[in-house]
Amino acid sequence: MLAPASNPAYRSEPVIWQRKEFWRRPLDFSHPDEIPGQDLPWSDDWFSKQTLKDMLDAENDIGTRPPDCIERESRWLLSILEEPRNHHLLDIGCGPGLYAEIFSRAGMKVTGIDLSPAAIEYARTSAAKAGLDITYVCGSISELNATNAYTAAFANYGFINNLHPALGRDSVEAVYRALAPDGVAVFELLHRGTLNQFAPLLWETVDNSYFSSQPHLYLQEMVTVDATSCHAFLTYVFNPDLPDEIRVYRYFFVTYTDSEFRELLGACGFETLNTHDYRDVIADPGNIQSTYYVARAKKSGD
Ligand SMILES: C[S@@+](CC[C@H](N)C(=O)[O-])C[C@H]1O[C@@H](n2cnc3c(N)ncnc32)[C@H](O)[C@@H]1O
Repeated sequence: MLAPASNPAYRSEPVIWQRKEFWRRPLDFSHPDEIPGQDLPWSDDWFSKQTLKDMLDAENDIGTRPPDCIERESRWLLSILEEPRNHHLLDIGCGPGLYAEIFSRAGMKVTGIDLSPAAIEYARTSAAKAGLDITYVCGSISELNATNAYTAAFANYGFINNLHPALGRDSVEAVYRALAPDGVAVFELLHRGTLNQFAPLLWETVDNSYFSSQPHLYLQEMVTVDATSCHAFLTYVFNPDLPDEIRVYRYFFVTYTDSEFRELLGACGFETLNTHDYRDVIADPGNIQSTYYVARAKKSGD
């Protein structure tokens, strides 16, 4: 635990006193580029191992959905793709492969891509144990250098909502490039109302967290760039053994209206074919509000 009396961090002026930018209120950002901090360190060893634990814990829905929802969502995707066996699916932000394995068992050729080394290692081991031939790539979708390689792509659980808007667009463009002509992309977008489930302000002293294996003080706040479309969570991590260092992480929650997301898809070359309410997809009217967008990559010049 933190030990104030014996720790040099508490004998001198606390570092937060010296960092006046942390005191400026209200935090006022007019553009997502102004939000300070680094994006979540998905590829960091410690971070990726901790987030993997949550994704594998069926008791919480922090990193993925409960197994019965995963099953129903996957069956739904299989039902809207004609002849799943003829498809090569790109599972974007695949995590430990909980969806990818269901798709593979249904006869699809599957490639999963994720930034988290721990999730990819788990996914590879799990597929090998199950005798499933799934390809896993550790990397960012926005940097995927594939052209006309897949016939379908799937990005669920608000994958695009959690990206800086410019990165969101780069990612949709990368998906478009990666799809074959007439390939189908399925993006799940969370609704603005789901923000209410996050605690806007939080501070804790913890023995460890996603951000550090050492005891530290952890502050989190939600800041607004645009009240209707762009919020960010800022997390400040104070480690008493490194009193001069405050690490700041940012995590976006960007929402799109239906017309904004259709416009983004169109600008990247997609035609929106259909939308589906997540609560209908899993037949649970009380669940979180989100929309699945089904879009076709228009590449054949038609
Ligand atoms: C909320 S988890 C969802 C995992 C999985 N889709 C599921 O529902 O079980 C989001 C995943 O996206 C990955 N991720 C975040 N940014 C990414 C990026 N730019 N490219 C690829 N994966 C990314 C994270 O590492 C994490 O595993």
